[in-house]
Amino acid sequence: MRQMIATDWHTHILPGLDDGSRDPQESLAMLQSIASQGVSAAVLTPHFYPQNESPGRFLERRETARFRLEKAIAGRADEGIDLPVRILGAEVYYFDELGGMDAEELSALCIGDTRILMVEMPMDPWDHRVFACLEKLIYQRKIQPLVAHIDRYYRAVKDKEALDALIGEGLLVQLNASAFQGQLSRRKAIRWIQDGRVHRIGSDCHNMRDRKPELSGAIEVIRRQFGEEALAMYFAGVEGQIDG
Ligand SMILES: [Fe+2]
Repeated sequence: MRQMIATDWHTHILPGLDDGSRDPQESLAMLQSIASQGVSAAVLTPHFYPQNESPGRFLERRETARFRLEKAIAGRADEGIDLPVRILGAEVYYFDELGGMDAEELSALCIGDTRILMVEMPMDPWDHRVFACLEKLIYQRKIQPLVAHIDRYYRAVKDKEALDALIGEGLLVQLNASAFQGQLSRRKAIRWIQDGRVHRIGSDCHNMRDRKPELSGAIEVIRRQFGEEALAMYFAGVEGQIDG
């Protein structure tokens, strides 16, 4: 198998935290599955719903889940299993006051040591408030929002020009690997890529049953349609993405 450096940008691998992995065993199976597809890093992006929970409480729970997972991994260290590197992040549900969040909490929710913040957008059409909020994050808070699974919002983004303008200012867009399944969906995903509206790809895996980590299909399509260089970009490593 061809060896490659790649990152799964969207996963719900941390155990017992959201609707993702139920326990450390399932998390380990998910990590092993990712590794078996030649992927060397996984960004851990558990759901954070600011309307239900304080950032502090969420970060505490995330730390507990991280500890459980790392303990389980350490417990199997003598088996010599090769697992992807784990990078902490969150999938923060959008709210209009996101741009006004406490600086420390905002930084803690970003991916690894970067200023990249994954945001789950509303399903309703994005209005001026949404664009203003994303703009505030970029300009005032020096945050680079990463819009999660754009494949769910093709219709919600009515104003493509406003989206492109934000992309020009640093907004990042993530596509789910599952968007490459099915002819129509694949065609749309490819169109969005061709239009420069996709920057990262993730599995958005939740478990080992119906929402498994499946990246190989997407990797194959990207490689065939856009080549190795594009592949490296969509699955780029997290290190050195952006400085503060
Ligand atoms: Fe997700």
